[in-house]
Amino acid sequence: MLKDRIAIVTGAARGIGAATAALLAQHGAKVALSDIDAQVAQTVVDEINAAGGEAANLPCDVSKPAQVDQLVADVVARWGKLDILVNNAGICPRIPVEDMTEEWFDRITNINMKSVFFLSRAAAEAMKPHGFGRIVNVSSTGGRVGGVHNATVYSATKAGVLSMTKSLARHYAPWNILINAVAPGAVDTRMFEAVPPDKLAAYVETVPLKRMAAPMEIAQGILPFCTPEMTWVTGATLDVNGGVVMM
Ligand SMILES: NC(=O)c1ccc[n+]([C@@H]2O[C@H](COP(=O)([O-])OP(=O)(O)OC[C@H]3O[C@@H](n4cnc5c(N)ncnc54)[C@H](O)[C@@H]3O)[C@@H](O)[C@H]2O)c1
Repeated sequence: MLKDRIAIVTGAARGIGAATAALLAQHGAKVALSDIDAQVAQTVVDEINAAGGEAANLPCDVSKPAQVDQLVADVVARWGKLDILVNNAGICPRIPVEDMTEEWFDRITNINMKSVFFLSRAAAEAMKPHGFGRIVNVSSTGGRVGGVHNATVYSATKAGVLSMTKSLARHYAPWNILINAVAPGAVDTRMFEAVPPDKLAAYVETVPLKRMAAPMEIAQGILPFCTPEMTWVTGATLDVNGGVVMM
């Protein structure tokens, strides 16, 4: 399905990003895994390559526009083009409204939202000459309905990602670059470690499927948006959330 396609997945050292990189590679894509944690990312790269896929470790801090420009340039230099970008890297520090600082506000915004603009632009500029591109942005149910458990700023950035998905989808449509988003509910990754077990249990009780997702279940929602077969969907958001929010 993705044979000869070149992909970047950010935040690919663990969690949803690692699962997505593995799934895209399994379907034939050559995948650049990009994370600030290069050491852990290398273990995922090694696993993908050992399974017969083709992956490379290209570390980058997505909050730095110069680094994301370089990431795209490195991928094009290595594999000749770029077809797919999954903007997945993100952080969700649990900070009560009363304790939020300007430094944390800026950090959350830069990693979760500013990154999506600058990396999508860099990627789309590389995709334009080929008249083909697929960009998938990882938002959150928090971006749909506002966040719970001390995630006010996080949720605002994820709503920003949804708005940007639509604007950029319109902007890049003339070059056949399709841009969509997924909005996951609670996923069993490091991100949820900071949520107290009683709060998590109460949340899970509200999920119709009565459990958290595994990272691969989110990757399975991302995959269709990356394929050349998906040709008439852009600016859309897929809720991958066990039914907890139905828009
Ligand atoms: N886990 C959930 O319940 C959940 C729910 C909704 C949305 N999401 C979103 O899914 C995405 C992945 O989250 P996850 O749960 O897999 O989290 P995770 O913490 O397991 O993985 C996130 C990865 O992003 C990397 N990262 C952080 N800052 C970075 C930076 N500046 N540059 C590059 N990489 C950076 C981390 O090193 C880490 O490997 C995030 O955007 C998150 O907001 C997660």
